[in-house]
Amino acid sequence: MTMAPELPWVPLLVPNMPSPQELLPWLERMHAAQHYSNFGPLVRELEVVFAQQFEMPHEHLTTVANATQGLELVLQALNLPTGAHVLVPALTFVATATAVVRAGHVPVLADVDAQTWMLTPKIARAACERMRIDAVMSVTTFGMPHDMSAWQQFERDTGLPVVIDAAAAYGSQWLQGAEGTLVFSLHTTKSLPAGEGGLVVSTRPGLAAKVRQLSNFGINLDPDVDTLVGTLAGLGTNAKMSEYHAAIGLASLEKWELHACDRREFLTGLMHDLEQASGYSLTWQAQGAGGPLMAPTLLCMRLPDAEARAALEQACQQARIMTRRWYQPLLQHMNVLQQRCLVLDTPDAQSLGQTLLGLPFFLGMTQQQRHRVLSVIAS
Ligand SMILES: Cc1ncc(COP(=O)(O)O)c(C=O)c1O
Repeated sequence: MTMAPELPWVPLLVPNMPSPQELLPWLERMHAAQHYSNFGPLVRELEVVFAQQFEMPHEHLTTVANATQGLELVLQALNLPTGAHVLVPALTFVATATAVVRAGHVPVLADVDAQTWMLTPKIARAACERMRIDAVMSVTTFGMPHDMSAWQQFERDTGLPVVIDAAAAYGSQWLQGAEGTLVFSLHTTKSLPAGEGGLVVSTRPGLAAKVRQLSNFGINLDPDVDTLVGTLAGLGTNAKMSEYHAAIGLASLEKWELHACDRREFLTGLMHDLEQASGYSLTWQAQGAGGPLMAPTLLCMRLPDAEARAALEQACQQARIMTRRWYQPLLQHMNVLQQRCLVLDTPDAQSLGQTLLGLPFFLGMTQQQRHRVLSVIAS
Protein backbone atom coordinates (compact mmCIF):
# COMPACT_ATOMS: atom_id res chain seq x y z
CA MET A 1 0.00 0.00 0.00
CA THR A 2 1.41 3.43 -0.89
CA MET A 3 1.11 6.12 1.73
CA ALA A 4 -0.19 9.56 0.76
CA PRO A 5 2.71 12.04 0.82
CA GLU A 6 2.61 14.26 3.88
CA LEU A 7 1.68 17.88 3.35
CA PRO A 8 4.71 20.16 3.56
CA TRP A 9 4.67 22.49 6.58
CA VAL A 10 3.60 26.10 6.10
CA PRO A 11 6.70 27.91 7.40
CA LEU A 12 6.53 30.72 9.93
CA LEU A 13 8.95 33.07 8.18
CA VAL A 14 10.78 33.05 4.87
CA PRO A 15 13.60 35.60 4.66
CA ASN A 16 13.92 38.04 1.75
CA MET A 17 17.67 37.80 1.23
CA PRO A 18 19.38 39.16 -1.91
CA SER A 19 20.05 36.55 -4.62
CA PRO A 20 23.62 35.50 -5.48
CA GLN A 21 23.32 37.63 -8.66
CA GLU A 22 22.33 40.70 -6.66
CA LEU A 23 25.21 40.11 -4.25
CA LEU A 24 27.89 39.55 -6.84
CA PRO A 25 28.71 43.21 -7.74
CA TRP A 26 29.22 43.99 -4.04
CA LEU A 27 31.39 40.93 -3.47
CA GLU A 28 33.46 41.83 -6.51
CA ARG A 29 34.04 45.30 -5.11
CA MET A 30 35.06 43.82 -1.79
CA HIS A 31 37.47 41.42 -3.47
CA ALA A 32 38.97 44.17 -5.62
CA ALA A 33 39.57 46.32 -2.52
CA GLN A 34 41.00 43.27 -0.67
CA HIS A 35 39.42 44.61 2.47
CA TYR A 36 37.28 42.08 4.31
CA SER A 37 36.68 43.56 7.77
CA ASN A 38 37.87 46.35 10.13
CA PHE A 39 35.60 49.18 8.91
CA GLY A 40 36.30 48.65 5.22
CA PRO A 41 34.81 50.57 2.27
CA LEU A 42 31.51 48.66 2.21
CA VAL A 43 30.85 49.16 5.93
CA ARG A 44 31.64 52.85 5.49
CA GLU A 45 29.33 53.08 2.47
CA LEU A 46 26.52 51.38 4.38
CA GLU A 47 27.00 53.82 7.26
CA VAL A 48 26.87 56.79 4.84
CA VAL A 49 23.48 55.57 3.56
CA PHE A 50 22.23 55.13 7.13
CA ALA A 51 23.42 58.64 8.01
CA GLN A 52 21.44 60.00 5.03
CA GLN A 53 18.34 58.03 6.02
CA PHE A 54 18.50 59.20 9.64
CA GLU A 55 19.49 62.73 8.53
CA MET A 56 22.39 62.91 10.94
CA PRO A 57 26.22 63.13 10.81
CA HIS A 58 27.73 59.67 10.36
CA GLU A 59 29.59 60.05 13.71
CA HIS A 60 26.19 59.58 15.36
CA LEU A 61 25.86 56.00 14.21
CA THR A 62 27.86 52.83 13.89
CA THR A 63 27.34 49.37 12.49
CA VAL A 64 27.96 46.39 14.78
CA ALA A 65 28.01 42.61 14.38
CA ASN A 66 24.45 42.20 15.70
CA ALA A 67 21.85 44.00 17.81
CA THR A 68 22.59 41.97 20.94
CA GLN A 69 26.17 43.20 21.06
CA GLY A 70 24.97 46.67 20.06
CA LEU A 71 22.71 46.78 23.14
CA GLU A 72 25.46 45.46 25.41
CA LEU A 73 28.01 47.98 24.14
CA VAL A 74 25.56 50.89 24.39
CA LEU A 75 25.02 49.98 28.05
CA GLN A 76 28.79 49.76 28.58
CA ALA A 77 29.32 53.11 26.84
CA LEU A 78 26.73 54.77 29.10
CA ASN A 79 29.11 54.17 32.04
CA LEU A 80 26.38 53.22 34.49
CA PRO A 81 27.59 52.03 37.91
CA THR A 82 27.96 48.22 38.12
CA GLY A 83 24.68 46.63 39.19
CA ALA A 84 22.60 49.48 37.78
CA HIS A 85 18.84 48.85 37.60
CA VAL A 86 17.83 48.82 33.94
CA LEU A 87 14.09 48.82 33.31
CA VAL A 88 13.06 46.45 30.49
CA PRO A 89 9.67 45.07 29.45
CA ALA A 90 8.80 41.58 30.72
CA LEU A 91 7.52 40.79 27.21
CA THR A 92 10.51 40.87 24.88
CA PHE A 93 13.10 38.70 23.19
CA VAL A 94 15.66 37.27 25.63
CA ALA A 95 18.53 39.34 24.17
CA THR A 96 17.13 42.54 25.73
CA ALA A 97 17.71 41.07 29.20
CA THR A 98 20.90 39.10 28.50
CA ALA A 99 22.53 42.30 27.19
CA VAL A 100 21.73 44.01 30.52
CA VAL A 101 23.10 41.13 32.60
CA ARG A 102 26.21 40.74 30.47
CA ALA A 103 26.88 44.48 30.81
CA GLY A 104 27.00 43.90 34.61
CA HIS A 105 23.55 45.28 35.46
CA VAL A 106 20.20 44.10 36.80
CA PRO A 107 17.15 43.97 34.54
CA VAL A 108 14.03 45.30 36.27
CA LEU A 109 11.07 43.73 34.51
CA ALA A 110 8.15 46.08 33.88
CA ASP A 111 4.66 45.66 32.52
CA VAL A 112 3.67 46.62 28.97
CA ASP A 113 0.74 48.64 27.71
CA ALA A 114 -2.31 46.40 27.13
CA GLN A 115 -2.96 47.86 23.66
CA THR A 116 0.47 48.55 22.13
CA TRP A 117 2.21 45.71 24.03
CA MET A 118 5.11 48.09 24.76
CA LEU A 119 6.85 49.58 27.79
CA THR A 120 5.79 53.24 27.60
CA PRO A 121 7.12 56.38 29.34
CA LYS A 122 4.01 56.28 31.56
CA ILE A 123 4.86 52.77 32.78
CA ALA A 124 8.51 53.79 33.25
CA ARG A 125 7.50 56.80 35.36
CA ALA A 126 5.36 54.57 37.59
CA ALA A 127 8.29 52.13 37.95
CA CYS A 128 10.58 54.97 39.03
CA GLU A 129 8.19 55.69 41.89
CA ARG A 130 8.38 52.07 43.03
CA MET A 131 12.17 51.59 43.05
CA ARG A 132 15.52 53.00 42.01
CA ILE A 133 15.86 52.89 38.22
CA ASP A 134 19.14 53.94 36.56
CA ALA A 135 18.29 53.51 32.88
CA VAL A 136 15.47 52.33 30.63
CA MET A 137 15.68 49.93 27.72
CA SER A 138 12.31 49.80 26.01
CA VAL A 139 11.52 47.62 23.01
CA THR A 140 9.75 48.21 19.71
CA THR A 141 7.55 45.15 20.26
CA PHE A 142 7.25 43.23 16.97
CA GLY A 143 8.62 46.33 15.20
CA MET A 144 6.01 48.85 16.42
CA PRO A 145 7.67 52.29 16.66
CA HIS A 146 7.88 54.36 19.85
CA ASP A 147 7.03 58.04 20.20
CA MET A 148 10.57 59.42 20.50
CA SER A 149 9.55 62.88 21.69
CA ALA A 150 7.76 61.26 24.65
CA TRP A 151 10.96 59.36 25.55
CA GLN A 152 13.04 62.51 25.06
CA GLN A 153 10.75 64.26 27.55
CA PHE A 154 11.16 61.33 29.95
CA GLU A 155 14.96 61.61 29.70
CA ARG A 156 14.80 65.36 30.38
CA ASP A 157 12.40 65.02 33.33
CA THR A 158 14.17 62.12 35.05
CA GLY A 159 17.79 62.48 33.89
CA LEU A 160 17.78 58.74 33.09
CA PRO A 161 19.23 57.48 29.80
CA VAL A 162 16.78 55.66 27.53
CA VAL A 163 17.83 53.09 24.93
CA ILE A 164 15.31 51.74 22.44
CA ASP A 165 15.85 48.09 21.51
CA ALA A 166 14.53 48.63 17.99
CA ALA A 167 15.82 45.23 16.80
CA ALA A 168 12.71 44.47 14.75
CA ALA A 169 11.92 48.04 13.68
CA TYR A 170 14.24 49.00 10.84
CA GLY A 171 12.10 51.07 8.47
CA SER A 172 9.44 51.73 11.14
CA GLN A 173 11.36 53.45 13.95
CA TRP A 174 13.01 56.79 13.20
CA LEU A 175 14.17 59.54 15.54
CA GLN A 176 11.14 61.63 14.49
CA GLY A 177 13.11 64.85 15.00
CA ALA A 178 13.77 64.02 18.66
CA GLU A 179 16.89 62.99 20.53
CA GLY A 180 17.42 59.34 21.35
CA THR A 181 19.34 56.10 21.07
CA LEU A 182 18.16 53.26 18.82
CA VAL A 183 19.63 49.79 18.26
CA PHE A 184 18.51 47.84 15.16
CA SER A 185 19.07 44.25 14.09
CA LEU A 186 20.00 43.40 10.52
CA HIS A 187 19.46 39.68 11.06
CA THR A 188 18.14 37.59 8.18
CA THR A 189 14.60 37.69 9.58
CA LYS A 190 14.48 41.48 9.83
CA SER A 191 13.32 44.05 7.25
CA LEU A 192 16.85 45.02 6.17
CA PRO A 193 18.68 41.69 6.27
CA ALA A 194 22.48 41.49 6.23
CA GLY A 195 22.62 37.86 7.43
CA GLU A 196 23.83 39.08 10.81
CA GLY A 197 24.35 42.72 11.69
CA GLY A 198 23.30 45.64 13.82
CA LEU A 199 23.08 49.40 13.77
CA VAL A 200 23.42 51.83 16.68
CA VAL A 201 22.04 55.35 16.15
CA SER A 202 22.38 57.94 18.91
CA THR A 203 22.19 61.70 19.29
CA ARG A 204 23.89 61.35 22.71
CA PRO A 205 27.29 63.09 22.27
CA GLY A 206 30.10 60.59 21.73
CA LEU A 207 27.99 57.48 22.37
CA ALA A 208 28.11 55.96 18.87
CA ALA A 209 31.87 56.65 18.66
CA LYS A 210 32.39 54.93 22.01
CA VAL A 211 30.35 51.91 20.87
CA ARG A 212 32.41 51.77 17.69
CA GLN A 213 35.63 51.79 19.71
CA LEU A 214 34.30 49.09 22.06
CA SER A 215 33.26 47.00 19.03
CA ASN A 216 36.93 47.15 17.94
CA PHE A 217 38.29 45.61 21.19
CA GLY A 218 38.33 49.07 22.86
CA ILE A 219 41.39 50.17 20.88
CA ASN A 220 41.90 53.92 20.50
CA LEU A 221 42.26 55.06 16.87
CA ASP A 222 41.95 58.80 17.57
CA PRO A 223 45.27 60.75 17.54
CA ASP A 224 43.59 63.73 19.26
CA VAL A 225 43.06 62.10 22.67
CA ASP A 226 45.44 61.28 25.55
CA THR A 227 45.45 57.49 25.01
CA LEU A 228 48.10 56.39 22.50
CA VAL A 229 46.78 55.26 19.12
CA GLY A 230 46.68 51.46 18.99
CA THR A 231 46.42 51.01 22.77
CA LEU A 232 43.35 50.14 24.81
CA ALA A 233 41.01 52.93 25.83
CA GLY A 234 38.38 50.54 27.22
CA LEU A 235 37.57 46.87 27.75
CA GLY A 236 35.85 46.13 24.48
CA THR A 237 35.08 43.09 22.43
CA ASN A 238 35.07 42.15 18.76
CA ALA A 239 31.66 43.22 17.46
CA LYS A 240 32.64 44.71 14.10
CA MET A 241 30.51 44.15 11.03
CA SER A 242 32.47 42.35 8.31
CA GLU A 243 32.59 43.51 4.69
CA TYR A 244 30.73 40.32 3.71
CA HIS A 245 27.78 41.32 5.87
CA ALA A 246 27.95 44.93 4.68
CA ALA A 247 27.78 43.60 1.10
CA ILE A 248 24.53 41.79 1.92
CA GLY A 249 23.22 44.89 3.70
CA LEU A 250 23.99 47.11 0.71
CA ALA A 251 22.35 44.66 -1.70
CA SER A 252 19.31 44.47 0.63
CA LEU A 253 19.05 48.26 0.72
CA GLU A 254 18.15 48.23 -2.97
CA LYS A 255 14.96 46.29 -2.24
CA TRP A 256 14.01 46.86 1.39
CA GLU A 257 11.45 49.61 0.74
CA LEU A 258 9.72 47.56 -1.93
CA HIS A 259 9.66 44.54 0.38
CA ALA A 260 8.37 46.64 3.29
CA CYS A 261 5.59 48.01 1.09
CA ASP A 262 4.63 44.53 -0.15
CA ARG A 263 4.67 43.16 3.41
CA ARG A 264 2.47 46.02 4.67
CA GLU A 265 -0.08 45.33 1.95
CA PHE A 266 0.05 41.59 2.49
CA LEU A 267 -0.30 41.98 6.26
CA THR A 268 -3.35 44.24 5.94
CA GLY A 269 -5.09 41.75 3.65
CA LEU A 270 -4.17 38.73 5.74
CA MET A 271 -5.30 40.36 9.00
CA HIS A 272 -8.60 41.27 7.39
CA ASP A 273 -9.18 37.69 6.21
CA LEU A 274 -8.09 36.21 9.55
CA GLU A 275 -10.44 38.50 11.40
CA GLN A 276 -13.33 37.48 9.19
CA ALA A 277 -12.46 33.79 9.41
CA SER A 278 -12.30 33.98 13.24
CA GLY A 279 -15.70 35.61 13.53
CA TYR A 280 -13.99 38.77 14.77
CA SER A 281 -12.58 37.15 17.92
CA LEU A 282 -8.94 38.23 17.43
CA THR A 283 -7.17 41.27 18.84
CA TRP A 284 -4.22 42.98 17.19
CA GLN A 285 -1.36 45.09 18.49
CA ALA A 286 -2.50 48.74 18.44
CA GLN A 287 -0.46 51.51 16.91
CA GLY A 288 0.86 53.93 19.52
CA ALA A 289 1.78 57.61 19.34
CA GLY A 290 4.98 56.62 17.47
CA GLY A 291 3.03 56.05 14.26
CA PRO A 292 2.31 53.02 12.11
CA LEU A 293 4.29 49.84 11.63
CA MET A 294 5.90 50.50 8.25
CA ALA A 295 8.06 47.41 7.83
CA PRO A 296 6.33 44.39 9.41
CA THR A 297 8.33 41.17 9.62
CA LEU A 298 6.00 38.89 11.55
CA LEU A 299 2.35 38.31 12.38
CA CYS A 300 1.33 38.01 16.00
CA MET A 301 -2.26 37.96 17.19
CA ARG A 302 -4.05 37.80 20.50
CA LEU A 303 -6.59 35.05 21.18
CA PRO A 304 -9.47 35.54 23.64
CA ASP A 305 -7.90 33.25 26.29
CA ALA A 306 -5.24 30.63 26.97
CA GLU A 307 -7.59 27.75 26.05
CA ALA A 308 -8.36 29.29 22.65
CA ARG A 309 -4.64 29.68 22.03
CA ALA A 310 -3.87 26.09 22.99
CA ALA A 311 -6.68 24.84 20.74
CA LEU A 312 -5.42 26.89 17.80
CA GLU A 313 -1.84 25.68 18.33
CA GLN A 314 -3.05 22.10 18.27
CA ALA A 315 -5.17 22.64 15.16
CA CYS A 316 -2.21 24.30 13.38
CA GLN A 317 0.05 21.43 14.37
CA GLN A 318 -2.42 18.95 12.84
CA ALA A 319 -2.71 21.04 9.65
CA ARG A 320 1.11 21.32 9.52
CA ILE A 321 1.15 25.08 9.99
CA MET A 322 4.03 26.48 12.02
CA THR A 323 3.23 28.77 14.94
CA ARG A 324 5.43 30.48 17.51
CA ARG A 325 4.82 31.98 20.92
CA TRP A 326 6.89 35.06 20.13
CA TYR A 327 8.68 36.64 23.14
CA GLN A 328 7.36 33.91 25.46
CA PRO A 329 7.56 32.74 28.17
CA LEU A 330 7.97 36.13 29.87
CA LEU A 331 11.51 36.85 31.02
CA GLN A 332 10.69 36.19 34.70
CA HIS A 333 9.65 32.65 33.82
CA MET A 334 13.06 31.69 32.42
CA ASN A 335 15.25 29.89 34.96
CA VAL A 336 18.50 31.52 33.87
CA LEU A 337 17.06 35.00 34.29
CA GLN A 338 14.93 34.47 37.41
CA GLN A 339 17.71 35.06 39.93
CA ARG A 340 19.21 37.90 37.96
CA CYS A 341 16.11 40.09 37.55
CA LEU A 342 13.89 42.19 39.75
CA VAL A 343 10.22 41.96 38.85
CA LEU A 344 7.54 44.62 39.15
CA ASP A 345 3.81 43.95 38.76
CA THR A 346 3.22 42.79 35.19
CA PRO A 347 -0.51 41.97 34.84
CA ASP A 348 -0.85 42.99 31.19
CA ALA A 349 2.35 41.24 30.14
CA GLN A 350 1.14 38.10 31.99
CA SER A 351 -2.15 38.17 30.17
CA LEU A 352 -0.44 38.71 26.80
CA GLY A 353 1.94 35.88 27.67
CA GLN A 354 -1.02 33.51 27.79
CA THR A 355 -2.81 34.67 24.66
CA LEU A 356 -0.32 35.78 21.96
CA LEU A 357 0.44 33.52 19.03
CA GLY A 358 2.52 34.05 15.90
CA LEU A 359 1.26 32.66 12.59
CA PRO A 360 3.01 32.29 9.20
CA PHE A 361 3.80 35.59 7.53
CA PHE A 362 6.09 35.89 4.52
CA LEU A 363 6.09 37.27 1.00
CA GLY A 364 5.36 34.58 -1.55
CA MET A 365 2.82 32.71 0.60
CA THR A 366 0.81 30.66 -1.91
CA GLN A 367 -2.99 30.74 -2.18
CA GLN A 368 -3.09 27.14 -0.90
CA GLN A 369 -0.96 28.00 2.14
CA ARG A 370 -3.10 31.04 2.87
CA HIS A 371 -6.25 28.99 2.48
CA ARG A 372 -4.91 26.35 4.84
CA VAL A 373 -4.21 28.98 7.53
CA LEU A 374 -7.62 30.62 7.09
CA SER A 375 -9.46 27.27 7.24
CA VAL A 376 -7.84 26.39 10.55
CA ILE A 377 -8.79 29.78 12.00
CA ALA A 378 -12.36 29.39 10.72
CA SER A 379 -12.73 25.97 12.31
C1 LIG B 1 13.66 42.66 20.75
C2 LIG B 1 14.92 42.04 20.24
N1 LIG B 1 16.10 42.42 20.75
C3 LIG B 1 17.27 41.92 20.31
C4 LIG B 1 17.30 40.97 19.30
C5 LIG B 1 18.61 40.38 18.87
O1 LIG B 1 19.01 40.82 17.60
P1 LIG B 1 20.29 40.16 16.92
O2 LIG B 1 19.87 38.82 16.41
O3 LIG B 1 20.69 41.08 15.80
O4 LIG B 1 21.36 40.06 17.95
C6 LIG B 1 16.10 40.54 18.72
C7 LIG B 1 16.11 39.54 17.65
O5 LIG B 1 15.10 39.11 17.14
C8 LIG B 1 14.87 41.10 19.19
O6 LIG B 1 13.69 40.71 18.70
